[in-house]
Amino acid sequence: MTEKLKIKAKDHLDSSEGKRHFNQKHFTESAPRYDIATRGLSFGQDAYWKKRLIQGLPELNSPYCVDIACGTGDVTFLLADKYPGGSIRGVDLTQEMIDISNERNQNKLVSFSCQDMSQLDVPDHSIDILTGSYAIRNAPDLDECLSEFHRAMKPGGHLAFLDFCKPSSKFAQSCQFWTLKLWGSFWGLLLHGNPEVHGYISASIKNYPANKELEQKFSDHHFEVVKSQRFFFGMTTIHFLKSLHTN
Ligand SMILES: C[S@@+](CC[C@H](N)C(=O)[O-])C[C@H]1O[C@@H](n2cnc3c(N)ncnc32)[C@H](O)[C@@H]1O
Repeated sequence: MTEKLKIKAKDHLDSSEGKRHFNQKHFTESAPRYDIATRGLSFGQDAYWKKRLIQGLPELNSPYCVDIACGTGDVTFLLADKYPGGSIRGVDLTQEMIDISNERNQNKLVSFSCQDMSQLDVPDHSIDILTGSYAIRNAPDLDECLSEFHRAMKPGGHLAFLDFCKPSSKFAQSCQFWTLKLWGSFWGLLLHGNPEVHGYISASIKNYPANKELEQKFSDHHFEVVKSQRFFFGMTTIHFLKSLHTN
């Protein structure tokens, strides 16, 4: 049995240390029912979005792929299906998520390890494909993580991020915040008897950049936005990026 989540997201998401600490506690508690929650929270759309993320990646023979914040490994396993000749790794902050991924990893086609996305245990310019679904919104410090991804990516390498899409207008942001707060808290109550579990999604969006700012951040960190796809009335988006050379 995992310890009950007693801390509140809004008290911890303002600093990178607080966010890391909260995420570790939150995902330790939510891990056993995480897959049910994701299907429910997304109205059953989650698997389709993840497939679209994989479909949008280029055809390569033997890429080195890293799926950050891999959770229970959905995207990691899809990478292994797409790139049978590749070397595929999933990394996540939370040991409970890695344990579930390892249980699913019957054929040992991929490797999983516990790692913080702000400090990847990979050599410079080694990754061909980096993916993250509902990942970068959880970055302890987004700028720091984007710098780390750029360090780790091969020049010309591909990245794809699926996440909620934060609108620009304050009114639309407020609608999104309350929709996610109510919907997330409902699933937290239903599955864990605790609205703070999954209710955190709305809090995590508060400090997350709106879509335009996010794309500017990508560009500031030397990533070209190749294309983006929106889903579910613009609630979620996939950004496909290319890592650029820097001199
Ligand atoms: C919403 S889940 C997404 C899981 C999976 N990618 C999916 O789409 O189902 C977010 C994941 O991010 C992980 N996480 C949070 N902070 C992290 C960090 N600093 N480094 C790596 N993983 C992190 C959590 O443990 C959790 O598994």
